[in-house]
Amino acid sequence: MNSQSVLTVNNLTKIFNPDTTAVDDVSFSVNQGELVAILGPSGAGKSTLLRCLNRLIPRTTGEIRIHGEEITRCRGRDLLKLRSDVGMVFQQFNLVPRLTVFENVLAGRLSLCANLLWSMASVFKIFKETEKQKAFEALTQVGISHLSPKRADSLSGGQQQRVAIARTLAQEPRVVLADEPVASLDPASSHRVMGILKKICESRRIPVLINLHQVDLAQQYADRIIGIQDGRLVFDGPVDQFTPGIAKTIYGAEFESAVCSVNINSAPDAAKEKTFAA
Ligand SMILES: Nc1ncnc2c1ncn2[C@@H]1O[C@H](COP(=O)(O)OP(=O)(O)OP(=O)(O)O)[C@@H](O)[C@H]1O
Ligand SMILES: [Mg+2]
Repeated sequence: MNSQSVLTVNNLTKIFNPDTTAVDDVSFSVNQGELVAILGPSGAGKSTLLRCLNRLIPRTTGEIRIHGEEITRCRGRDLLKLRSDVGMVFQQFNLVPRLTVFENVLAGRLSLCANLLWSMASVFKIFKETEKQKAFEALTQVGISHLSPKRADSLSGGQQQRVAIARTLAQEPRVVLADEPVASLDPASSHRVMGILKKICESRRIPVLINLHQVDLAQQYADRIIGIQDGRLVFDGPVDQFTPGIAKTIYGAEFESAVCSVNINSAPDAAKEKTFAA
């Protein structure tokens, strides 16, 4: 682990049953301000990896450290703290539809999951001015503070995802994990959301890990790509080293549909490729 490492994963394995090793002995570390795209075919283990990192599911073996602190065994109050330290953005936004944009973002200050039932009356008794200010700042950072009073379910998909990102930011996380955050969005909204995640990474100096299916978005926005195949880490390197050969190794039969935008002409010297035995 170098001095800038925020998240360190050592030999992480998740076995669901004896036949399914979803994450298989994966190790990597992520520095502050680094945007990492996690690529791999369907069923490779990308979501399982992210879920282990914020303890939505328990890992089978291995170590996860955030700022040096081992988090795989934390319980109770420590686990709640971990959940607020590790912000999570999902494909389906997970907003409370009947609440306003602002109320949804305030929920991030509670560090509770969005489907927890709480009444609005209690919300406004709980939150202090400073907390409302933080929620407003988060909405401003994703460019939708003007939508604060609107009901969440009246927004477009792209706007809802920005609310979800603002809710995560309101937690003041030390790491952000995003599981296919643009999979339900049109191309223009996808670029906007990716641009916002990139800015967050740079301005807040926190690492952002994003599961993606679109190689072109990974190449455009990420600093680094991690490739997963059958639960194993098969590539870890800067975007410009992610060659068509590596993409083919990772995607196998899904290669044509997943990575048609890989620019073969800009591929670096094959000797620079950093592949690992699958
Ligand atoms: N709760 C679970 N119980 C049993 N097996 C599971 C469970 N969740 C995932 N798996 C299995 O673990 C493997 C990895 O699944 P995962 O959802 O992590 O893949 P993924 O890379 O996110 O795929 P996709 O790109 O389709 O979202 C798959 O074989 C999947 O069937
Ligand atoms: Mg997934």
